[in-house]
Parts: sequence; C-alpha cells; structure tokens
Amino acid sequence: MEFSYYGHSCFSVTIKGKKILFDPFISFNDLASAIDVNSIEADYIILSHGHADHIADAISIAKRTGAKVVANWEIHEWLNKNGVPNTHPMNTGGKWVFEFGTVKAVVAQHSSGLPDGSYGGNPLGFVIISEAGNFYYSGDTGLTLDMQLIPSWAKLHFAVLPIGDNFTMDIADSIRCADFIACNMVVGVHYNTFGFIKIDEEAAQSAFKSAGKSLLLPRIGETIEI
Ligand code: NI
Ligand code: MN
Repeated sequence: MEFSYYGHSCFSVTIKGKKILFDPFISFNDLASAIDVNSIEADYIILSHGHADHIADAISIAKRTGAKVVANWEIHEWLNKNGVPNTHPMNTGGKWVFEFGTVKAVVAQHSSGLPDGSYGGNPLGFVIISEAGNFYYSGDTGLTLDMQLIPSWAKLHFAVLPIGDNFTMDIADSIRCADFIACNMVVGVHYNTFGFIKIDEEAAQSAFKSAGKSLLLPRIGETIEI
C-alpha cells in the first residue's frame, strides 16, 4: 500500500486506485511549508475529530477535489453547513463499505470541539479493512482498553498512532497500544509539530525496537510502500 505523510497526523493511502486522505492539516503547519496544499489529491477524506490540527484544510481540499468526507455525525452536519455536501456520517461502533474497503469507526478517548466553537461530537479512530491490507488509525487518543477489541475485527498490517504525549499517547503507551491491537508495525504521528509534543525520534525508535516492534517515521512529503 502506498502511504504518503504530510506532517502532523495528515497522511494518505492509495487503495484500489482511490486516494484516501486523513486529517488534513498542511497549510497551517510550519513543518509542512514545502507542501502545496493545492497539489493534494483525494477521493476520500477521513476526519478523526474536529480539532483544527486535524481539519484545517478539509473544507478547501474537499471543495477543490469533490472528495467524499467521512466523519462523525456532528462534523458531517458542520461540513454540510460550510458548503461541503459530499459527506458520509458515521459514529462509534459502526462500519460502512466504501469503494476501497470497509471503514469501522472505533472509540478514541479525546475531545472534538470544532474551530468555530460548534459541538464536534465524539472523536473517532478507524479500522480500514481492504484487499491491500488492514490498518488502524487511532486518531488523537489516550491508551484505552477498548483497543483490545480491534484484533477481533481485523488482523492489522500496520497502525498509525500518535506518539507525541501531552494531548495523546506517549511512546510507551503507543507501544502498549501496539500490543493491545496485535500489530508490530507502527507509523508514528502527532509529534514535533508544536512545543508540547516534541520527541526524541531515535529514542522512540529504539524503544519500539526493544519491544520487538518497528516505528516508521516517514519524512514530511515522503511516500513509502507499506
Ligand atoms: Ni485533537
Ligand atoms: Mn491533535
């Protein structure tokens, strides 16, 4: 599966020729200044929650590309009010079959207020089940025992997990999460973007290695085969 990293928690995967973009936050991210947000293509945009560092570019990319935006009910309504009609609402525990595969919305322990103060519903994580492989994107979350349910829904090829601490799991908790979800390959996100979430990348990778797992930290703008 082709995996492109755009900084913070923004990434895309290509499955069955469809480009699926997660949590677009590019034009407001100083670390991603080399990326032209107008060059980002998307057939689908999946949003984990309403915080600006996950949706700041969602409306503009959705309007330009016509991508279908998948988000919780409240964010779906907010997008419709803001001129994005092509949306698909979901909520915790539900799944839906899209062209590229199945998306199951799962628990994330976080918050989800929208940038203009609107109520943003509950945050979500997602399990993506596809012919190209299955993966879990936890969204912003703390470590939660609910993660132990995930292997009963899908055998994961990889997981995309926050590792920056302060707002989300730290490195140690993301390693415990990887145990809960029975997955040994993790792409780390939600680190280094702001002062609160700076990490030591080498220490993070050796901590994963000591636990028998690998932590991938693609460069911003890099595309890897995963
Ligand atoms: Ni957040
Ligand atoms: Mn965040």
